Amino acid sequence: MRKEIIMMLSALLLMTTLLWGAADQQNKEPLSGQKVFETYCWGCHHQTAVAFGPPFSEIASRRSADEIRAMITDPANVSKTFGYKRNAMPPFRLSEAELEAITRYILSFRPKGK
Ligand code: HEC
Repeated sequence: MRKEIIMMLSALLLMTTLLWGAADQQNKEPLSGQKVFETYCWGCHHQTAVAFGPPFSEIASRRSADEIRAMITDPANVSKTFGYKRNAMPPFRLSEAELEAITRYILSFRPKGK
């Protein structure tokens, strides 16, 4: 009986250690802009080719980080100031970390020398 209790306790301990490890791993992993891109933007944007929306390389060469963030959260208004007649991009509710990651990702496609 004592032996069984000890075995159960060790199993429990092992499980918590494993779970803890997994949670820790998730916290440490930096949020990648590519992941955000694949989750939300991929259907309409491509990094360097024109899709439904303009390519990131083009966006990066003409917009600032603030403009990009504004467009993601409020495309209906910002697309007007960008000169679009119609707005086809939906708004996104991203976390601060996701916004930061995707903005950095887009700007990383800025063509050299611009
Ligand atoms: C449903 C399709 C769609 C999705 C999904 C989408 N976009 Fe767009 N995006 C567009 C279109 C179309 C435009 C052109 C402006 C418009 O129609 O509003 C655009 C324009 C933009 C612009 C401004 C382009 C310029 O003129 O500089 C930025 C920045 C942008 N998108 C970023 C993103 C990001 C980041 C995501 C993902 C979080 C995303 N878009 C998801 C369709 C989309």
